[in-house]
Amino acid sequence: MRIRPAGTIQGRVKVPGDKSISHRAAIIAALAAGQSRLDNLSSSQDCAATLGCLRELGVSIEQEGNEVHIDGRERLQSPAQDLECGNSGSTMRMLAGVLAGQNFTSLMTGDASLRSRPMMRVIEPLEKMGATVDSVDGKPPLRISGRELLTPIEFSLPVASAQVKSCILFAGLQAAGQTSILEQQTTRDHTERLFDWFGVPVTRETVDENTTRISVRGPAVPIARDTSIPGDISAAAFLIAAAALIPGSELELAGIGVNPTRTQFITTLQSLGLNAEVMDRVALSNEPVGSIRVAGRSRLSSAAAVQFNNLSTELIPQLIDELPLLAVVATQVEGGIAIRGSKELRFKESDRIAATVRNLRAMGAEVEEFPDGLSVAGPQRLCGAALNSFGDHRIAMAFTIAALIADGESFISDPECVAVSFPGFFEMLESIVKN
Ligand code: S3P
Repeated sequence: MRIRPAGTIQGRVKVPGDKSISHRAAIIAALAAGQSRLDNLSSSQDCAATLGCLRELGVSIEQEGNEVHIDGRERLQSPAQDLECGNSGSTMRMLAGVLAGQNFTSLMTGDASLRSRPMMRVIEPLEKMGATVDSVDGKPPLRISGRELLTPIEFSLPVASAQVKSCILFAGLQAAGQTSILEQQTTRDHTERLFDWFGVPVTRETVDENTTRISVRGPAVPIARDTSIPGDISAAAFLIAAAALIPGSELELAGIGVNPTRTQFITTLQSLGLNAEVMDRVALSNEPVGSIRVAGRSRLSSAAAVQFNNLSTELIPQLIDELPLLAVVATQVEGGIAIRGSKELRFKESDRIAATVRNLRAMGAEVEEFPDGLSVAGPQRLCGAALNSFGDHRIAMAFTIAALIADGESFISDPECVAVSFPGFFEMLESIVKN
């Protein structure tokens, strides 16, 4: 895909429904008593993988565009074939928690990227709860032999991961008693909010300054509920960054999820002196939603870098998916940005530290790589280049934005991977880029 530098960004757009919330809402609706209507479900390939697996497990799902009707089942049905999770770590890790409590054996697999991702983080707690999980050295495919009425556990998260927390919460729904998770760094809390929304009590207690205990008492059956999914802030982030960096831009995004565990990218842009503002907050199906208004900055900074702006490590989980994009933004801000404590980025759909460093260097940028992150000098000019998406949707989109602010044209490999989270990304961008 060829990308030319943009003049300005102008317009009002609506991004797809939130991917994280869509996976969870579909899974909870599948386990609920009654029929739920989910409105504005994410059109991403990842969420299609979750719906495909649920259908394979006997769940009746009717889909008309982004409106989906799901009939919950008391027990899932043993699948006739392997459960194909595609590229989606969320599908595999969260459904693993559901399958752990079902009285049959199933096999979950995925594409080459997913088959290289670490799964011990979910295998260990699920085995403690009484399921048997076979893997290939801690990686997919996963063969899960579930058991009815799991053993409740208290589990301290070994990595700050909302997928692992949610996996255990789903298993906890099917356990005999209280299951608790101890979380040291705040991660996205959509599962907890949706449990509340679907009538499953979930408690949160502060254990000490650094630790929260999140608990659910099983066995519990959610009650079907019509649910509206807000726009995906992690999809919006790419458009927001482009508009904030390009002088003269004006962009408005309506109906975006602004859950505080997801808005750290916006807060970080603001602290770097960029203009992105959340307005008109309302609650939608127990999630905060608002409009985001972005104005391009008035001038490009030209001062030399003195010191890096350090990103606080305890906030990393709250903008984990935006870090490659933040590294691109860093090239344009005075002082650049040092992003450390982010080793988890190496275990995403690609090694996102290596991919970001490789592409920034291809654009002529000064960047240093560390085992747990990178530091990017700024401000510096980017040159158009041949960029590699590594088949990773967020790398493809982050470097599309880099290409918009570069001198000269760029080419991005394998651009169709954006459909993993944001089908229509390039078309939407084209509609707001003015030359
Ligand atoms: C997600 C959690 C994060 C994130 C992923 C979606 C979720 O992963 O990177 O894109 O929906 O819970 P981890 O839980 O592995 O950090």
